[in-house]
Amino acid sequence: MTPREKIILTGDRPTGPLHIGHYVGSLRRRVELQDSGAYDRIFVFEADAQALTDNADNPERVRQNVIEVALDYLSVGLDPQKSTLFVQSQIPELAELTFYFMNMVSVARLQRNPTVKTEIQMRGFSGESIPVGFFTYPISQAADITLFRATTVPVGEDQEPMLEQCREIVRRFNNIYGETLVEPDILLPDNAACMRLPGTDGKAKMSKSLGNCIYLKDTADEVERKVKSMFTDPDHLRVSDPGRVEGNTVFTYLDAFCRPEHFGRYLPEYPDLDELKAHYRRGGLGDMKVKRFLAAILQETLEPIRQRRAELQKDIPAVLDTLRRGTEAAREVGARTMDDVRRAMHLDYFTDASFAAEQAARFA
Ligand code: TRP
Repeated sequence: MTPREKIILTGDRPTGPLHIGHYVGSLRRRVELQDSGAYDRIFVFEADAQALTDNADNPERVRQNVIEVALDYLSVGLDPQKSTLFVQSQIPELAELTFYFMNMVSVARLQRNPTVKTEIQMRGFSGESIPVGFFTYPISQAADITLFRATTVPVGEDQEPMLEQCREIVRRFNNIYGETLVEPDILLPDNAACMRLPGTDGKAKMSKSLGNCIYLKDTADEVERKVKSMFTDPDHLRVSDPGRVEGNTVFTYLDAFCRPEHFGRYLPEYPDLDELKAHYRRGGLGDMKVKRFLAAILQETLEPIRQRRAELQKDIPAVLDTLRRGTEAAREVGARTMDDVRRAMHLDYFTDASFAAEQAARFA
């Protein structure tokens, strides 16, 4: 047998512009994977249909963020020549595959999915008021992954239960219908600080509604202002006080963004992050100095992204066209998988040449 193609698939719900948490948690890695040349094919998509599962009364929010997220993708360096960028809702085969997968998952199994559990709580759905589409989105997510025969799914740890459920569905399907679909592997972020970047206020997660995000599209002034007001160690009142580094958002961001060469450029009096942390712990290092360092690093990282975005924004129809072409290419791949699925399921009455004869014999 020829070795299986290595195929990456991942995506985001287009519910708002992407922030630096997305950048360190997934986007940066995607670009590295894309440029590594180690994969035969890369799909990155906007899960607009999935976004509708919990934005049923605000569909315009999703529509308004499709180009926004495409701009984020392209400006961080996803290259449509190397990665197929597409929009979920425009691939009807996904709905078809989801429909068949629905028969392979019990309500009890969905209720056990820890991510669905917390999301139900977070959104305040009670009892049986959960929209069916929202409750079953892990099933449609399994279709997202398998329709493109993805072998590798780079996502955050919160998506682990989705991948586990996807693998179960694939095993069940292949058991019933014969080896047809591919079991994907999850690829988690490699740096602990990147697993989930806290908000600038120190809260566990960056979220639009909490107003604690630094967006990739923020201006240099906005970034400066947000870093200056960041949460640090509330007990570190005077510069001379010993400070805490754990749970100190500024240091968490440094863990995620700082590279050795940044010291030479912006803070040459320290050799590395360990020394900077040690000084902060001892006392004698002020928050402002650390924040200025972080701000310099963030600006260096974000400036090229902002510049590319400004260029791309000049020609929005071209951005839309990139999505359209990617979606067409993805649809071709999906249609081929769906042909295999229908054949495996024997839902091929009009294309299976032996079906008519077989049925004729039955009725003879
Ligand atoms: N659920 C993912 C998120 O909220 C988005 C997503 C949808 C996805 N389908 C996917 C990610 C398939 C990876 C693979 O971030």
